[in-house]
Amino acid sequence: MSGTSQRVQFPADFLWGAATSAYQIEGSPLADGAGPSIWQRFTRTPGMMANGDTGDVACDHYRRWKDDVALMKHLGLKAYRFSIAWARVLPEGRGRVNDRGLDFYSRLVDELLRNDIMPLPTLFHWDLPAMLDDRGGWLNPDVASWFADYANIMYAKLDDRVQQWATLNEPWVVTDGGYLHGALAPGHRSKYEAPIASHNLLRAHGTAVQAYRANGKHRIGIVVNIEPKYAASQSAEDLAAVKRADAYMNRQYLDPVFLGAYPDELQDIFDDAWPSWPAADLALIKQPIDWLGVNYYTRNVTRFDANNYPLRVASVKQDATYTETGWEVFAQGLTDTLTWIKQRYGNPPVYVTENGAAFYDPPQADDGVIDDPLRVNYFRKHLAAVSDAIGQGCDVRGYMAWSLLDNLEWSLGFSKRFGIVHVDFATQQRTIKASGKLYANVIASNGDVLNHA
Ligand code: BGC
Repeated sequence: MSGTSQRVQFPADFLWGAATSAYQIEGSPLADGAGPSIWQRFTRTPGMMANGDTGDVACDHYRRWKDDVALMKHLGLKAYRFSIAWARVLPEGRGRVNDRGLDFYSRLVDELLRNDIMPLPTLFHWDLPAMLDDRGGWLNPDVASWFADYANIMYAKLDDRVQQWATLNEPWVVTDGGYLHGALAPGHRSKYEAPIASHNLLRAHGTAVQAYRANGKHRIGIVVNIEPKYAASQSAEDLAAVKRADAYMNRQYLDPVFLGAYPDELQDIFDDAWPSWPAADLALIKQPIDWLGVNYYTRNVTRFDANNYPLRVASVKQDATYTETGWEVFAQGLTDTLTWIKQRYGNPPVYVTENGAAFYDPPQADDGVIDDPLRVNYFRKHLAAVSDAIGQGCDVRGYMAWSLLDNLEWSLGFSKRFGIVHVDFATQQRTIKASGKLYANVIASNGDVLNHA
């Protein structure tokens, strides 16, 4: 079913928001006693970052947070999804607490609430404290208890005001980018490390959820990125390739969290690098969660490729629009993702916690407008796709645009812009793009504006 023919509609209490993450926007990474993170190191490793960019300044949000909350209010956001920099709170990653770092997030939460914007913090969005990496980072089994200790500090400080928490953002990207292919911090390339990092991320999630049940009063969940895989042909080889790709990227995280088991295909992919995990670990990972965050950007049309080790898959280019990060625009994939989650995992409460696109933004016109028609079109189609999924019975409760601001797109630096608000990185001037104006109208009309051209 296509999103265009049906009436677009959302439940009355639908939570409209926008998302960011700490290292991508804050700047001032070592201010007020914060410790370094692995991204601090990675951005200083020659050759790893486009144009040698770093997060030293980024959107300067650490100093401009009040103005940024005013901007959110102006857009009409009902929720703001942000992440907490672990090394601001615990400069060494564990042990000594840095109150000044903790206070930054407390002030931010207060300011959001004063503006009727619901704070939706994520505890970990990739910026592991560097000193924990020195102890093995996600490869050290102790990381689960380090994470729970940090989480408990955050619960104690903010749970009186925060109603909804996320443990991790996109564990797949952490392990695929950080431990298998090395394009992201900490930049390792090892088939043997990737499964261990994944497993410890999931153990950390489980441990933090368990801690929340003891010490928190509201709701907690996890955020995963889902990229549905479609077979390039019906050949047995391609169909098996699709199963491997789907198991690796999508089911590797959701199956343990919801079903308490890893997909069988992971053994086939990782071969002797796939350990047999203790049953107690899987029981720990399968803590009931209150909500699931789904980040959706694109799909993949997949075929068999013997040379692409260890997955043995490749993607097939489509006759379609592609974004600047090389991702196919395919809104139906979001409906398919949401209906798949409903069917496979028992219709949990879902929030689309990220969705958006990097496109080239034309220069500001004389009348001040930044026209970003491709992004406008992207949001229109994907919001219709969410409405379709709701029409098909999916329990989708909210949507967060990625991203509030143009920001540091990880190893691509500032070369790719995802914002609904343009940032001039030389002056830090913020300008709402046409997509931001559309989104403000979407919020104000609870989606009804999407029924009109
Ligand atoms: C991440 C964001 C990132 C976005 C676009 C997601 O993988 O959570 O931090 O900027 O996608 O690549």
